[in-house]
Amino acid sequence: MKHFATALFALAVAVQPAAGEERVIRMSTDNTDLVLQVSGNGRLYQTYLGPRLADNVTIPSEAWSVHAGSGNGVAGRGWEVYPGSGNESYFEPAVGITHSDGNPSTFLYYQSSTTRAVKGGTETVIELKDDQYPLYVTLHYVVYPEENIYKTWSEIRHEEKKPVQLSAYASTMLYFSQPSYYLTEFSGDWAHEVQMSTQRLQPGKKVLDTKLGSRAAMHMYPFFEVGLGQPVDEHAGTVLMGTIGWTGNYRFTFEVDNVGDLRVIPAINPYASLYELKAGEVFRTPEFIFTLSYEGTGQGSRNFHQWARRYQLKDGEGTRMTLLNNWEYTGFNFDEAKLVSVIEEAKKLGVDMFLLDDGWFGNKYPRSNDRAGLGDWTVTHDKLPGGIPALVSAAEKAGVKFGIWVEPEMVNPKSEMFEKHPDWAIHLPNRKTYYYRNQLVLDLSNPKVQDYVYGVLEGILKENPGVKYFKWDCNSPITNIYSPYLKDRQGQLYIDYVRGLYNVLDRLAENYPDVQMMLCSGGGARCDFEALKYFTEFWCSDNTDPIERLFIQWGFSQFMPAKAMCAHVTNWSRGTSVKFRTDVASMCKLGFDINLSGMNEQEFQYCQAAVANWKRLQSVIMDGAQYRLVSPYEGEHMAVNYVDEARSHAVLFAYDIYPRFQEKLMPVRLQGLDPSRMYKVEEINLMPGRKSSLAAHGKVFSGDYLMKIGLNVLSLSKTRSCVVELMAQ
Ligand code: GLA
Repeated sequence: MKHFATALFALAVAVQPAAGEERVIRMSTDNTDLVLQVSGNGRLYQTYLGPRLADNVTIPSEAWSVHAGSGNGVAGRGWEVYPGSGNESYFEPAVGITHSDGNPSTFLYYQSSTTRAVKGGTETVIELKDDQYPLYVTLHYVVYPEENIYKTWSEIRHEEKKPVQLSAYASTMLYFSQPSYYLTEFSGDWAHEVQMSTQRLQPGKKVLDTKLGSRAAMHMYPFFEVGLGQPVDEHAGTVLMGTIGWTGNYRFTFEVDNVGDLRVIPAINPYASLYELKAGEVFRTPEFIFTLSYEGTGQGSRNFHQWARRYQLKDGEGTRMTLLNNWEYTGFNFDEAKLVSVIEEAKKLGVDMFLLDDGWFGNKYPRSNDRAGLGDWTVTHDKLPGGIPALVSAAEKAGVKFGIWVEPEMVNPKSEMFEKHPDWAIHLPNRKTYYYRNQLVLDLSNPKVQDYVYGVLEGILKENPGVKYFKWDCNSPITNIYSPYLKDRQGQLYIDYVRGLYNVLDRLAENYPDVQMMLCSGGGARCDFEALKYFTEFWCSDNTDPIERLFIQWGFSQFMPAKAMCAHVTNWSRGTSVKFRTDVASMCKLGFDINLSGMNEQEFQYCQAAVANWKRLQSVIMDGAQYRLVSPYEGEHMAVNYVDEARSHAVLFAYDIYPRFQEKLMPVRLQGLDPSRMYKVEEINLMPGRKSSLAAHGKVFSGDYLMKIGLNVLSLSKTRSCVVELMAQ
């Protein structure tokens, strides 16, 4: 209710156009204004994007005429909101259209706009039309005032006699005029996800994109930060943070123009995707979601976390299940007795669920390694004679939930499925096939394949209503790009693949709304906010080395709430203690993927207590505001704290990596507490029998003290961790 009230208030304070001005569309969050204006030429321009303006402000036309269609003295040029190809702008267009008569130009004129209240905010819908062709573009903006988030997308359609060719289809276009721009990007590879780097944008274009199709984000992640006027900083400065909700090829273009203005163009990557749009068909672009923070990336991240939990993430306000997975422990090498013993260990550990990983299916070609069986989703009878039902009932008996791994979009050529339906796999008819992890991607542009993929999950759920969770994997990019189904419309494959995937996920969400799912892609190579509408969480990386995880979790946390990020304790350890590994995983959604019987008694007891603590603190860690305090990118330590909404309960995680000899240690100053309240400080997650060495342990401090002076939680020891609970008195 509160959110709606704010949204409607925001609407009521429309900017007053000065005399002679044309229509002004103002979209306000609590902190930011985006102002669009219909210029005298009938076209739509961005005239302001920045800190929120005073209410009822009157903006004289000269204040923004520079951007409103008269840039460089040339009528029409300026910060057009959705510029078409072939018009008078010299820069990258938002939309590239070749009309059915071969004309490559599009000029869009404002027709109308409407607003309506939607959950959490207000949606503004703006209609544009070409003056020479029956070609229409609808711009959508959803504004979430309280979280300071904008979500925007576009729809393109036409009524020309023959199809038109789309060569570019941006979700939106944003403009900035600042002395300098610094782009922080997130790149990586398998087991090396979201590595952050920053560079100054120079004149010309910088492009971040992917052409990998299914395992789209393996090398470049679908989000970015732009420091406006200075490089991004955690706690200060203006930063644009943006992400695209598209589980496939995307492209972010950052273009600094001749006068030093910046265009930001988020889009589906048009690579190999000349899209033939038929009359009446609507081309809907993915959503681009962005925030502007004036207090650095920390606040921008909290905007995203709050928004994602409330409005985007599947079951965003629900709880999550701690789990024990068997992949790192057994790999493909297990049988029923082994799994039952692991299920019993899950119970002893105190986690909520056992998750069975890869290797449970295939008979003619059993899945005993990654070279065969993918696509044959019947249980391997000689390995698991009681099938999945026997395992589900063992889990029920132990009192834990049961989850299972699937990779339904892919196939090994060595499978009955491929023998039966070779034309369901994406591969070139006339060239030697290239295999990534010995597999091919199924052609989800084909409705029959969509039915099959849906059927894989439905089949498991029908046989086993006790299955409560899927780990949905995707280990290959799209290779050998050719769809036997699309024939002469190959330009649609990358796009229709993603739409086909969403069709399957929609059906699943509709028919099995309570099944939770982990999104996995050979680690964290799929992690966009459209996919996360269907998934409660995602697997950040196969790399569970806790030191690497400090960086990976720091990177993903820029956009993703902790509750969406799975972190498991494994034997990827580089000699670190079980405590250190568990404390690192406890910052996110906690799980284990390890041979528990390999631990000594003390370690196991420690883990049991850590699981119980995590469950007790779940609402603070998963739903609280996250404050990144000490960056691993800036030294040999890392610290983060979480605070619940009432500011009465907080958790601080602090880690020493490889400190220098006698380096200067600073107390860690917490954030987000209530300065006037008193908090009891207690170190938790201690090894059995160990006493806290924290001087503040057991004492009471004011929020003011804790935020200004801080706690001495860092040390000069190698790979040491300290977890502190703070409870308001
Ligand atoms: C991927 C996942 C792993 C595991 C394997 C199974 O690599 O990231 O966690 O599930 O597949 O083959």
